[in-house]
Parts: sequence; structure tokens; C-alpha cells
Amino acid sequence: MNEKLIKKQYLKKISDLRKHNQAYYDKSAPLIADTDYDKLKNDIINYEKKYKFLKNQNSPSLLVGFRPSKNFKKIKHKVPMLSLSNAFDEEDLINFEKRITNYLDKNISSNIEYSAEPKIDGISASLYYRDGKFIAGLSRGDGKEGEDITENLKTIKDIPKNILEKNFPKEIDIRGEVFIKNSDFKKLSDKFANPRNAASGSLRQKNPSETKKIPLRFIAYTFGYEKNMKIATQSEYLQNLSKWGFKTNPLNKTIKGVKNLLENYKLIEQKREDLDFDIDGIVYKVNDLELQRRLGNVANAPRWAIAHKFSANSAISKIEKIEIQIGRTGALTPVAKIKPINVGGVVVSNATLHNEEEITRKDIRVGDTVVVERAGDVIPHVVSVDLNKRKEGSKKFVFPTKCPCGFETIKEFNEVSKKFDAVRRCPDRGFDCDKIAKEKIKHFVSKEALNIEGFGKKIVENFWSLKLIKLPQDIFKLNYSKIEILDGWGRQSVANLKYSIDLRKTISLEKFIYSLGIRHIGLENAKLISKNLKSIKNFISLSKKKNFDDLINIDGIGVTQIKSIKNFFDNKTNLNVLLELEKILSITNSIEFKKDGLLKNKTFMLTGKLNGISRAEAKSLIEKNSGSIVSNVSKKLDYLIVGEKPTKRKIDNAMSLNIKILNQGDWLKILNE
Ligand code: IVH
Repeated sequence: MNEKLIKKQYLKKISDLRKHNQAYYDKSAPLIADTDYDKLKNDIINYEKKYKFLKNQNSPSLLVGFRPSKNFKKIKHKVPMLSLSNAFDEEDLINFEKRITNYLDKNISSNIEYSAEPKIDGISASLYYRDGKFIAGLSRGDGKEGEDITENLKTIKDIPKNILEKNFPKEIDIRGEVFIKNSDFKKLSDKFANPRNAASGSLRQKNPSETKKIPLRFIAYTFGYEKNMKIATQSEYLQNLSKWGFKTNPLNKTIKGVKNLLENYKLIEQKREDLDFDIDGIVYKVNDLELQRRLGNVANAPRWAIAHKFSANSAISKIEKIEIQIGRTGALTPVAKIKPINVGGVVVSNATLHNEEEITRKDIRVGDTVVVERAGDVIPHVVSVDLNKRKEGSKKFVFPTKCPCGFETIKEFNEVSKKFDAVRRCPDRGFDCDKIAKEKIKHFVSKEALNIEGFGKKIVENFWSLKLIKLPQDIFKLNYSKIEILDGWGRQSVANLKYSIDLRKTISLEKFIYSLGIRHIGLENAKLISKNLKSIKNFISLSKKKNFDDLINIDGIGVTQIKSIKNFFDNKTNLNVLLELEKILSITNSIEFKKDGLLKNKTFMLTGKLNGISRAEAKSLIEKNSGSIVSNVSKKLDYLIVGEKPTKRKIDNAMSLNIKILNQGDWLKILNE
């Protein structure tokens, strides 16, 4: 994808997000589900991670908490809420310590004591107390100015409202993290992507009684402004916090020396899966508050602290169960159900084990402690097993030889590699195997196939279990009055669904062939077949043929594909699906682009908006007439078609190269010649 397109998609997402923020906060009428909102947010963050050139100062990801609200009053922090710089390995820690000793200009490196505190992944808050009373609570905001979320914070049980202890400072900002326990998050997991989002969302409810419904927790770990605090070290401060009635992290420790910091890091990383809250690293703080004061800050992070982060794409967890999933093509894929663990901001509870061979090779067993990796959008997978942690008496995993539909599975012989496949399959039974059928329907409605908007995998699962659908054609015969009364549905959402379905009743032959989900027939092959057979009638008549020899003449289609198509037609249910769909859908014939059309050997480029015709249609019109589209102005360009609000630079370039410039009318005239 080119940068422009990426940027366009990115900006569209940001403008969508703004629209949803407004609907949510200012109109109190969210337009989308929280999960979709979270997904949009994550999309934006992922875009920024992937395409570094995108990030700008207006990025919503820089807004702490992400859903900036006009409804909360903004208040300045008396002492700014800083962030932390990150360390990822031993070298970073050694440098951190070096920077400190150099700054203090003395040789105390081996004596520096740190407070090592697991870094909870939640939302930070600053609580202002005067004379022992909780007066006001702010979110971090941009670090300088936070939002007044006092009323919401008051609903949190872990936050003391009155503190009577004698040594409690006259005035102090107690700072810490608001979060949700993983066990509590389970009940909310269909609404939010991870506990952090759930905490953030709940903390920003307009109505505190909504916040109160969510079991938010608070752990205290630092302070901002203070008056009359007579405490010398961070660890002493932490001890006092408990005395004053705050919760602190039970895994906090004081440690000297980088080696010991690393040892503690490894220990806690191993414990991570057993904790009931997400941590994404360990924070190290110089323990001596006087030294902290001397060290001060750089930019917006203290010199005296650092966050030693856990890897963003891997984590340790335990396999609770191994399940076998059946894919659209009948492949049996083993999936490890693991104890949920946060890997780089996403809670992972499934990790693929690929196939039977992989399980045997790595000797992966139920109960094993494993390293799970997640990179980008790829499905998380199990990397390795920690054999030291294996319990006595654990048993090898026995891979089933039967599909849940009752059929014996097979491993196919690969004619090319002369080997048996690693993958076990339910022999190609198509819609006759319930498991496969469900996956085939998911494929049928998916984006590349029929592209029925709003008809996601979850809906397929749901409708399937309610026996509303069994075969693709059932989608067009849905009992909408039954759906309307289902949980989570209503008149409007049913109307939307019906609209999306009706919209897709016209479909090109190539998309249709692809949507059938015939093994080895992806988009490209479907295109080739549709170009060759031209009409749905010809495609269906393949079923009457004894041999498919004419298909072999299609460049790009080989024996594997032909065998698979034959298999497809050999199955009666498939044929029934095909005939039924042909009745319901309007499947447009494949149009062959003329080779000697009017625009033969001519290149075109479009700039600006055309009237009454989309860019895609204009492009296809040019191609149908044998012309081609180019994406930049060069000597190779014959015509620049100019619509409304064109890019001036393109016109200037074209003029300087003596390229013919056409308006929409000129262009249509050429086409009508
Ligand atoms: S100290 C200047 N201590 O990490 C010191 N922060 O990246 C900054 N966090 O916004 C805060 N656990 O949300 C500190 N024990 C801990 C922490 C902690 C989690 C978060 C906090 C902060 C972020 C800094």
C-alpha cells in the first residue's frame, strides 16, 4: 500500500473516532458498541506502530485515556504527572545506573538502593487530600492538566475518604493506578478489549453510579504535591501508604544492584500469569527521596526512575486445555486454551499449536507452562515449553483421529512433495460436516466474499446455534421477527442487517465462485475461472460433465484445483446450495475487457472528483475499453482527466510535459466516439 492511501485510511479512522467521542460524551448516544470503539482505537494505535510516518501531534493516542471528554472539568496538577522512560534489557539498566551515578558524581553505584514495583497496566490518578480528607481526584490528562473525576473515584472502595493517622501529611497528592482485576474483567470481556480499556472506560462514565457498577481497584505508589511529609525513602512511603489505609502492591521490593534487579524481573515475569492483575513491567525508583530530589527530571520523565518493560509480543502462561478446531477446508487445528495473559495490550487466551506434528515435536501437553508469542495481527502461537515446570504424571497429548462430526480424519498424500501432509483433515464433506459448514458460512459472508456488513463470525455462530442458518441460502430467508426479539437485537439493528443482506444480492461471478469456499480456489483462481466460463450457467453445468478437461486450459489452474472443483461438484449438498443461491442472487456475467477497445494503448490518470461516477467505475470503464490507469504524471501518461477540486500540481506537471488535459465531458466524448 502506498503512503497516501495509508494516511487516508488513518485519517478516516481518526475522524470516525472523533465522531464517536462526540456521540458518546456530548450526546450520550453512542453510535457503536464499546468493543467496536475499542477496536477502532486499537486500529489507530496499530497503524501508528506500523507506519511511523503517521504519528502527529494531534494523534488521539497521545491523549491519555483516549476518550477526551468535554464533560469533565480540567484542573492543573500542582506537580506534573510524569511518565517513565523504558528499559528493555540489562544494558539499558546498566546505563540507567551509570546516568544516575554520573549525575550525582560519586561512586555509589553498588550502594544505590531501588524500590522495585510491578508496573500495573491501568489508569493513573492523583488524589488530593487536605487534613486527612479526600478532596479531589484527577486523571493524568496530558500530565500537566487532568480531568476532575472526583465523583467517579469516590465510588472506589480502595480509596480512603478520611485518614486519621497522625503522620499523614497536611496536604498531599496520593498517586497510583486504577485498574480492574482479571477475574472481574471476565464479566466485561465482551465489551472491552482488555482490562485497561475497561478501567479507562468505566472511570470516564458521566454518571458515577455507572462507575460504581464496575469493580475498580486502586493501588498507590507515589505522590505529587505534599506539605509536611516527613519520610526519607520510597519504601518507607510505601509502608506508610498501607498504614494510611491504601492498598500497595504486595510484590514491591527494595533491591540493590542491576544483577539483583534482573533476577527479580525474571521471577516476577514467571509469576505474572498467576497474578490477578495485568502488569507490563517493573518500575525501579531510587529509594532515597533526597537523591530523587537531587536527580530531578529530564523532559517529562524523572531521572531517578525507569520502567523495565516485559516483551510486548511474548508472555508466559499455562495451557488449560487443548481444543481441536475444524476449519473451512476440514483441517483439524489444535488450539491451546491458555490462562489469559496480556501480551502487548491484548488479552490472549487462545494460542494456535498449528498441527499434530508440531505438538509431537515440541511435546506440548495440557498443564504445561509455555511461552506465547503474538506479533502484529498474526494469531498468537506457542513458542516453547518450560520443561522444568512440568508436573509429574503429565501425559502426552493424544491427537484425535476423528472429526467431531464422527468422520475418520485423513492425512493427504502430497503428490509434489511425495509426503503425507502434516495436517489432519475431515475428508472434504463440505456442508455435510456441521463444523465445516459453519466455517464455510463465515467465509461466505466475509469481506472478500459477499461482504455482508455487520454479519460477523459471532453472528454466524449465534444464528447457527439457534438453527436460523444451516446453509448459505438460509441467510436470505432469515426469520427477522425471531431475530428482533433476541438479546442484543432490536428493530433498528435488524433493519440494518436486512439492508446489508439485500445489498449483496447482486454479485459478480468471480466473487460468487470465491464465496463458495472451494478448497484451493482463492480470489485469483476464482477470477480466472469466471473469466473463462463467463456465466453462472456454465459454471453450474460443470456438474453435468464427466470430466473437467477444458478447465485445464486455463492458465493458472492446475490438477490440484481441478480435483478440488470436481470434489465440490461430486457432493449433492454443494450442488443444492449452488442451485438455490442461483435462484436468489443475481450473479452477473464476467465481462471480458476488450483487447482492441477505443482506448487501446492509451494511459489515463484521474485527479479530482468526477460527476455522477465513482473513481472505481471510471477506472473500470477505461479498462473495459482497453485503456490503462497510471498513478503519476510522467511522459508515459497520455491523458489527465480533471474533475472537481483537482490537485493543481498534477495539472501543472501535465502541462509542462505537454500531456492532454481532459475534463469529464471531453473524456466521455472520446468514449462515445
Ligand atoms: S511512578 C514519575 N510507580 O506507569 C513517576 N508508575 O509510565 C511516574 N505505573 O503513568 C509514576 N505502576 O500509570 C509509578 N509503581 C508505579 C507504577 C507506575 C504503574 C504507571 C503509571 C504511570 C506510568 C508511567
